[in-house]
Amino acid sequence: MEFRQRVDEVKQEALEACQGAPDSQALEQVRVKYLGKKGSLTGLLRGLGQLDPEERPNAGKLVNEAKAEVESAIKHRQQELAVMEQQRQLEAETIDISLPGRPRPQGTMHPVTIVLNEIKRIFVGMGYSVAEGPEVETDYYNFEALNIPKDHPARDMQDTFFFNDNLLLRSQTSPVQIRTMEVQKPPVRIIAPGKVYRSDSDVTHSPMFHQVEGLLVDDHVTFADLKGTLQYFAEQMFGSHTKTRFRSSYFPFTEPSAEVDVSCIMCSGQGCRICSFTGWLEILGSGMVDPRVLRMVGYDPDEVSGFAFGMGVERIAMLKYGINDIRLLFDNDVRFLRQFEGQGGCC
Ligand code: DAH
Repeated sequence: MEFRQRVDEVKQEALEACQGAPDSQALEQVRVKYLGKKGSLTGLLRGLGQLDPEERPNAGKLVNEAKAEVESAIKHRQQELAVMEQQRQLEAETIDISLPGRPRPQGTMHPVTIVLNEIKRIFVGMGYSVAEGPEVETDYYNFEALNIPKDHPARDMQDTFFFNDNLLLRSQTSPVQIRTMEVQKPPVRIIAPGKVYRSDSDVTHSPMFHQVEGLLVDDHVTFADLKGTLQYFAEQMFGSHTKTRFRSSYFPFTEPSAEVDVSCIMCSGQGCRICSFTGWLEILGSGMVDPRVLRMVGYDPDEVSGFAFGMGVERIAMLKYGINDIRLLFDNDVRFLRQFEGQGGCC
């Protein structure tokens, strides 16, 4: 084959390979194949020695021209590929703002929170302020100051978690009454919401649950004030047709004491499975603050009197929403919790 033809063929092949190189890596391989040390155009230059001496200058020129042409084609292709690759990268990185957003799951208010907020709203509306106390309490505040001395049988009513002889997890929110009265002169008008703990667990009892304590101390506070307050609360909480019933009871820190029932919110007092066909549901304990308790915090029972009450928040939530197992409130199963979506407003 004539040398010129051979050079032409290799050049043509190189130019085509160049144009067909899909990326810079492939293009580099093309460069090595034709222009590298062992490349075929380089090989042709080396083969010049075998030609007749008079042919060599022309042949050399031919190969060098071919090399220059291929080199320039490679450069050109390099630029093309660089633009394409940048384009590809830009496309891969762009944010497609027409894509629909990924929905972020949004939590709902827990039924206990809904009820707690509702209780607070009702009492704050009557001028009560919200007080708090520690969950790890001393024996004195949880029992002694509430007229429950050591060996008092009322201690058995609440299976208390003790850390030692003196420290315990509060079994009721009543100690907040004492803590408040110790630092505040009458008039006192507080509610104390919070967690309480008892060693107890079944469908209606949980080792941790919430209570809201109420305390009002002032001149001439009577049992009628207690009744009026709790009747108003019941109507606000369960609806304006709700009736209340006060049953005589016993708590060491109140005298007299009463347990308060509301007319069944399921059957309006007709009698159903929820109220065990009595027409009534017990919702809280209450009474007139025992003079011994008032004396213990430095108040004079001849000058002031007061009433107190304490209610279980989970119990009210269960009654309000027809929940038959308290554990549902703490399992955190979203299928359960989602059912309260839209109740109780936002956060
Ligand atoms: N602390 C009581 C309990 O946990 C509830 C209670 C009853 C609170 C009567 C009171 C009250 O303030 O007056 O069972």
